[in-house]
Amino acid sequence: MDISVIILAAGKGTRMKSGLPKVLHPISGLPMIHYIIETAQKVTDDITVVLFHEAERIKKEISDSFDGIAFKIQDHANYPGTGGALMDAKTAHSSVLVLNGDMPLVTFESLKPVLSKKGDIVMTVFDLPDPSGYGRVIIENNEVKAIVEEKDCSAKQRDVKTVNAGVYLFKKEILEFYLPKLSNKNAQAEYYLTDIIKLARKDGKKIVPVWVEKESFKGINSRFDLAKAEEIMQDRIKERWMREGVTMHLPSTIYIDSTVVFEGECTIDSGVNIYGNSVVSNSHIKSHTVIEDAQIKNSSCGPMARIRPGSIISNTHIGNFVEVKKSRLTGIKVGHLSYLGDAEIDEGTNIGAGTITCNYDGIRKHKTKIGKNVFIGSDTQLIAPVTIKDDVMVAAGTTVTKDIEKGSLAISRVEQKIVKNFFYRFFKKGDKNG
Ligand code: UD1
Ligand code: MG
Repeated sequence: MDISVIILAAGKGTRMKSGLPKVLHPISGLPMIHYIIETAQKVTDDITVVLFHEAERIKKEISDSFDGIAFKIQDHANYPGTGGALMDAKTAHSSVLVLNGDMPLVTFESLKPVLSKKGDIVMTVFDLPDPSGYGRVIIENNEVKAIVEEKDCSAKQRDVKTVNAGVYLFKKEILEFYLPKLSNKNAQAEYYLTDIIKLARKDGKKIVPVWVEKESFKGINSRFDLAKAEEIMQDRIKERWMREGVTMHLPSTIYIDSTVVFEGECTIDSGVNIYGNSVVSNSHIKSHTVIEDAQIKNSSCGPMARIRPGSIISNTHIGNFVEVKKSRLTGIKVGHLSYLGDAEIDEGTNIGAGTITCNYDGIRKHKTKIGKNVFIGSDTQLIAPVTIKDDVMVAAGTTVTKDIEKGSLAISRVEQKIVKNFFYRFFKKGDKNG
């Protein structure tokens, strides 16, 4: 397509009330600006992002994830406003699609009606029962006459329900001709991009409105908008995976980051949260389990398990209240109430309830290695670094401080003592039986 994209992201985002720049607020695991860049990449490879507030921070975030994005720093002191943002932007193609950094829900699909229309300017609109906060669009005979910003509206214009969604497709020569003609004589003393419409209209240019879906084109201005957008994003993410063969029980209670990948047939029970670069293949994740940056293959986890970053789990059963961190578990069972951190555990091994890898000595983290077919009794503490070879039994309640050779038993217990009738003496009560 002969189209360049400019993404406006120089605004301050005051209404977010945040130290984090608005376009870096995450939605489903990614800063919101990621989504609009991904959409822009489906349109063209000539993409410019306009920055000003926190420019370096935003530029770094984008450059870390995308190649070939150009940046333009807005001369905000002299030319504030959406019109100022576009001044002197360099574009390669004959049409310029203007997108906003705070519109994470715009998809390539939802842009198609805009890209297929012919006109000097194609602009997006939708109708809102409560149009407050948006520029009102005055339309006559299916052509746009003007856009009036809320702060500049007359009482009658304020009642107009058709609003400017803020995405436009301009012929490049229209932008080049009209941008220098903008003035800042308005309530906000800004250079409004929207004033180009009025100027172009006077010269008889064709300005075509396109009604777009509200859901995709609503901008994020507050943390309330952010939460609403995330709900929509979550529905999209989960619908996609369900269509790919993932069963989800009560999907409205499940949270999945947009970076998570499922493979094969998976079942996800209610209340599960999966974050980051997790990959789940042919596994059953039971209710209220939390998974972060982990790989899980041919396994079941939960209910109420926590799988933390760096865990690589295959052919394994993980039961309730088990926490796993940075561990490789291959073909094992850990059914109840355990912590496995910095561990490597091999096939056929059973980890008893209440087993803890004591991986931290207060300064450093250490590894626990456990071989094949090992039986770890309940309530075992493994003081790392420690290695347990194949075919070992560790008795319940043992504190393992030394490496254990193949085929051995390890037991460390205080010998059991029995003091008869101690209870009755201690509480000064008679024995009911005698
Ligand atoms: C703008 C439109 C309004 C429309 C609304 C839709 C103008 C004058 N008004 O208003 O008609 O209904 O979007 O959401 O265009 N930005 C810059 N540099 C600036 C100012 C803003 O890059 O100097 C960027 C912002 O980061 C944001 C976008 O432009 O991504 C829109 O800015 P915003 O301040 O949200 O404009 P609105 O007042 O909402
Ligand atoms: Mg806005």
